[in-house]
Amino acid sequence: MRTHLLSPVFLVACLPMLARTVASVRAAGGLRPSHARWGPASVPPRVAGRCRLPAGGFLPITPGRPLADRFVRRVSTAAGGPPPISFQDAAAYERMTGAWSRLVGRDFLDWLAPARGLRWLDVGCGNGVFTGLIADRCAPASVEGIDPEPAQLDYARRRPDSRDARFRVGDAMALPCLPASVDVAAMALVLFYLPDPARGVAQMVRVVAPGGIVCAYNWDLARGGSPLAVLGRAMRRAGVETPTAPSAWAAAEEAVRRLWTDAGLEDVQTRRITVRREFESFEALWEVLQLGASTAPVLRGLSFGKREEIKGYVREQVGLGNGDDGPVTCEASAIAVKGRVKRS
Ligand SMILES: C[S@@+](CC[C@H](N)C(=O)[O-])C[C@H]1O[C@@H](n2cnc3c(N)ncnc32)[C@H](O)[C@@H]1O
Repeated sequence: MRTHLLSPVFLVACLPMLARTVASVRAAGGLRPSHARWGPASVPPRVAGRCRLPAGGFLPITPGRPLADRFVRRVSTAAGGPPPISFQDAAAYERMTGAWSRLVGRDFLDWLAPARGLRWLDVGCGNGVFTGLIADRCAPASVEGIDPEPAQLDYARRRPDSRDARFRVGDAMALPCLPASVDVAAMALVLFYLPDPARGVAQMVRVVAPGGIVCAYNWDLARGGSPLAVLGRAMRRAGVETPTAPSAWAAAEEAVRRLWTDAGLEDVQTRRITVRREFESFEALWEVLQLGASTAPVLRGLSFGKREEIKGYVREQVGLGNGDDGPVTCEASAIAVKGRVKRS
């Protein structure tokens, strides 16, 4: 006998299967946002606390439950949600986040104070801005940059400051490197994009030789330290949603300290790095802000009027009245972490 797909017999037969599916989705903490290309935004069991919201107040972070329920879920349920964070435009990246990363990267390398002649791995090197700093300032024996985005790597290969570096397509979750093959593994502004930051740290530990360094810096997202925070606040005030990094929790100082310690690293230290960038005018700041990898696709999809509204809110935040212009100084903060691989 053939059963028609819409027949009552068939529908009743499907009920147990439907119930099991709903139960397993619930157990997994709900549906994953459609845009979360890098995986679920969940908090690992041992990280809890609270996260300051840019708009004021605190968002509690509950162990084992999805982070930023209010933001991530809002995004997932909206029609389509914002587009995924994409790092394909390397030139735009250079002008916005790259310039900021260079500022943080300089202070970070001063803090690391590495010996000369080391073998470096830059994980999630993007367009090579931090790789270039390593090549320029650390007199390395070798530098290799790894990133999943071929367009960024093309740009990196053309940088004059990273001419001695090698670049390869690769994933931080499964580094294409031999065990103990480098002396320093670094992640600049990458950890909070990984689906499983603990695995990313474990991969760096695997490829670093005993006595070597595993290090990273991340925007202090919980305290609005990202250079895009000012734009994010303005967009939310205008009722526009912005994508959230899938593992934003991993950027916090307490989280990196725990990740590094749990990975078996020794001499774990953290520090905050605050940098300032001067823009010759508000228009110059606005032009650069519109290039942010997470927010650019959202802004492009808005009407002229909505973009003007957001621009006005940004102007307000930097303390300029309507029509005022003049130099603007902006600030960003990162949390840096370093630890040493055990010798035995
Ligand atoms: C904010 S950018 C940082 C780029 C560069 N490190 C810097 O300091 O400017 C984040 C980078 O992480 C990369 N990325 C995202 N997921 C990754 C993964 N699973 N493995 C390695 N890199 C990843 C992106 O392609 C992007 O280039």
